[in-house]
Amino acid sequence: MIHIAPSILSADFARLGDDIKAAERGGAGIIHCDVMDGHFVPNITIGPLIIKAARSVTDLPLDCHLMIKDPDRYIEAFAKAGANMISVHVEEVVHLNRTVSAIRNLGCRPGVVLNPSTPINTLEEILPFIDYVLIMSVNPGFGGQAFLETSLDKIGRLKAMIMNRGLDVHIEVDGGVDMSNIAELTRCGAEWFVAGSAVFGKGDIEKATRELHAQAMTAVSV
Ligand code: DX5
Ligand code: ZN
Repeated sequence: MIHIAPSILSADFARLGDDIKAAERGGAGIIHCDVMDGHFVPNITIGPLIIKAARSVTDLPLDCHLMIKDPDRYIEAFAKAGANMISVHVEEVVHLNRTVSAIRNLGCRPGVVLNPSTPINTLEEILPFIDYVLIMSVNPGFGGQAFLETSLDKIGRLKAMIMNRGLDVHIEVDGGVDMSNIAELTRCGAEWFVAGSAVFGKGDIEKATRELHAQAMTAVSV
């Protein structure tokens, strides 16, 4: 199932509810929320308070991408604020199996994130326990960065790994996703597409979301 996951990092926070609604009208399937703490990544963004606000305006799954030090300390707060999906970085979490179980026990879908330079073999043991892998196609920290082309091959190899093991794990991709690469990403095996500037930076949020979805679908064989 192909889903566009607009990243509210690029939304207008003075009218966040309206922006989320526009993305929803355009067919968004997930709302992606980038949580940054100024330590794991250089930028500082949002916390559970904004997740709670987003929860009050949409029924779409809220996908919290935790780019923070020691995410275990905050998982419960994000779950209680209304998160449906919570992803943590393998580069940060020491007891990944425990963290993933904690996310699931709180009623959320667990995901694991890989930075561009982190190899997919780091997923070998955790793969059967998670619902999705989030492949970073930029170095995390900011919206509007250029897509790293090496992500295409990485996604292809991850897809093969998932298929070979007969697992039901989705691949989400994050960073620099736009009309020029979304079809190719779909062909490589990505299903959920985080898009910040390609959705909120184009003027018409609804239209941009719809066009991205349609473009991804051109790569889906019937
Ligand atoms: C980057 C974030 C992304 C970002 C994507 O650290 O994780 O979700 O908002 O923004 P674009 O689509 O503009 O690259
Ligand atoms: Zn993200």
